[in-house]
Amino acid sequence: MQPRSAPLSTLYDPQATISDSEFAAFQRLIQQLTGIHLSDAKKQLVFGRLRARVRQLGLDSFEQYFRLVSASTQADERQMVVDLLTTNETYFFREPRHFDLLRNEILPQRQRNRPLRVWSAASSSGEEAYSIAMVLADALGASRQAAWEVLGSDISRRVLDKARTGRYPLQRIDGIPSHLMTNWCAKGSAAQEGTLLVDAAIRERVRFQQINLNERLPDIGRFEVVFLRNMLIYFQPAAKNEIVRRVVDIMHPGAWLIVGHSESVKGSDERLQVHSPSVYRVAR
Ligand SMILES: C[S@@+](CC[C@H](N)C(=O)[O-])C[C@H]1O[C@@H](n2cnc3c(N)ncnc32)[C@H](O)[C@@H]1O
Repeated sequence: MQPRSAPLSTLYDPQATISDSEFAAFQRLIQQLTGIHLSDAKKQLVFGRLRARVRQLGLDSFEQYFRLVSASTQADERQMVVDLLTTNETYFFREPRHFDLLRNEILPQRQRNRPLRVWSAASSSGEEAYSIAMVLADALGASRQAAWEVLGSDISRRVLDKARTGRYPLQRIDGIPSHLMTNWCAKGSAAQEGTLLVDAAIRERVRFQQINLNERLPDIGRFEVVFLRNMLIYFQPAAKNEIVRRVVDIMHPGAWLIVGHSESVKGSDERLQVHSPSVYRVAR
């Protein structure tokens, strides 16, 4: 069923909103594309995030935009909707206890007969993946002999493009401990004034790939540690459990799964054992 459009003027009226049926259409679309459940309380957020794009395309309504993105030829525009409607908030060393755990407990207990592979599974613009890599480089070194690697992945193409640059505004780097900043980051000068560049030795060890966790996973190997933080909150229980199952399927026995402090995957998969709040281990 096609959504009923709100009048043209709503696109330009600061008090405006999207019609209920237009919102419902985008709610269903984002659920199909990503698995994310947008509650009815997100109506104004959807309006705010899509409005500029609808105007930019010279369209008169969200209904027209919905028809456009629904066309089979419009995969890039559907990716645009995903980029606009996902929430990508992140920062370096967010929830620092997890990085202390990585350094003080996970690294000393690691299997030494294989490379340490860590996955930042909803990496957004890369701050989490680079924070992990700085801890690993500091503890294990970053020479070619140091056997570790980090994969960062996300469904949003826009944030991955940003992540691959390894360059961030200085206002966004508060969480980086000073010795890691000195060793693994460089402040930009001249045209790059006001930015920080993650060291090349780190960037070479961190690979970014577009992965939709709501679908069958591509062949990315097995992991010892997975950070899956601040993403599951956007999913309903059944979809969340499916994602956790897919992720656990590619973790080694004894591997560590770390979710956000406000999240829990208790009961999502019987192979997981609680280590401490927000930290789980795969049964051996
Ligand atoms: C709030 S950010 C969390 C970033 C980081 N993990 C942190 O804790 O700071 C959530 C990320 O999940 C991503 N995401 C949402 N649905 C996804 C899906 N189906 N597959 C992969 N990534 C997804 C979003 O694009 C967004 O970048």
